[in-house]
Amino acid sequence: MNFSFHHSCALITGASSGLGAEFARQLAPHASILILVARRKERLEDLAHALQANYPQLTIYLQVRNLNLFDEREELAAWIKEQQIPLNLVINNAGLGDIGGFCEASWQRLQEILDLNITALTHLTHLLLPTLRKQAPSALLQVGSIAGFFPLRGNATYAASKAYTNSLSQALYLEEKEHGVTVTLLSPGPVPTEFFEVASRTDNPISITSRAHACLITSPEKVVKTALRAILKQKASVIPNRLLSALIGCLRLVPVFLFERVCVKNKKRCN
Ligand SMILES: NC(=O)c1ccc[n+]([C@@H]2O[C@H](COP(=O)([O-])OP(=O)(O)OC[C@H]3O[C@@H](n4cnc5c(N)ncnc54)[C@H](OP(=O)(O)O)[C@@H]3O)[C@@H](O)[C@H]2O)c1
Repeated sequence: MNFSFHHSCALITGASSGLGAEFARQLAPHASILILVARRKERLEDLAHALQANYPQLTIYLQVRNLNLFDEREELAAWIKEQQIPLNLVINNAGLGDIGGFCEASWQRLQEILDLNITALTHLTHLLLPTLRKQAPSALLQVGSIAGFFPLRGNATYAASKAYTNSLSQALYLEEKEHGVTVTLLSPGPVPTEFFEVASRTDNPISITSRAHACLITSPEKVVKTALRAILKQKASVIPNRLLSALIGCLRLVPVFLFERVCVKNKKRCN
């Protein structure tokens, strides 16, 4: 039996905006239960009301959590256990960037990136995998980035954190296969969400169009649709933009400076 979204019970981190909210919208017609996790309660409530109006059969739980905190992650996992939710889909999507030179970065921001993109993702995966195994066939989607394939100047810590996600995810794909859990790495290129706004420093606001060529930008709808299809196909890894996927395949064979020339627009702006 293969995993299906029909009657699935899904947990989505970072569901208050961008890709996370889009995952919720695209899963809502198929799922039985959605657990939406983020810090901004009002955003989660607005999303839940909109989904509930269209899909009254859906059960939606809101978990207002700061995933950077160890206790909040433990409490989230304990709550799922207590409620006996038959969780069979986890989307580890919450993530944070910082655009600008490493030396000039605030340590607090870099710490947040390490806490959220690496520690929280790893801890939640570790906490929830036993349930996913129990509910197999099941799926785990780790949201990485194409930034994880290359060291990136002006994005050093973020790119390094996503390289970690790439590596962890692909190892877990191999480990979990025999337990009926498909682990898929999603590596989007630039997507118009709040990401760039949040990742910008106050003295240097960055827009997506100043960072990336238009042909490399993918809509959240397309990213999520491609990711969900990749889960069903039990893929280990997916880049949700054909041009970018081909480009990454080629660029992985050439030196880093060429990657910058081709993919990063106005690279001096982030130094
Ligand atoms: N947009 C892009 O160009 C792009 C490209 C490649 C990869 N990605 C990856 O895609 C994922 C989603 O990003 P996005 O583009 O949708 O950005 P976004 O709109 O900024 O969404 C980020 C989400 O993470 C949540 N979050 C941040 N800190 C959190 C914390 N401490 N605890 C709990 N939730 C937290 C935010 O919710 P609250 O603030 O309400 O907590 C928000 O829902 C990230 O992993 C990102 O690295 C994005």
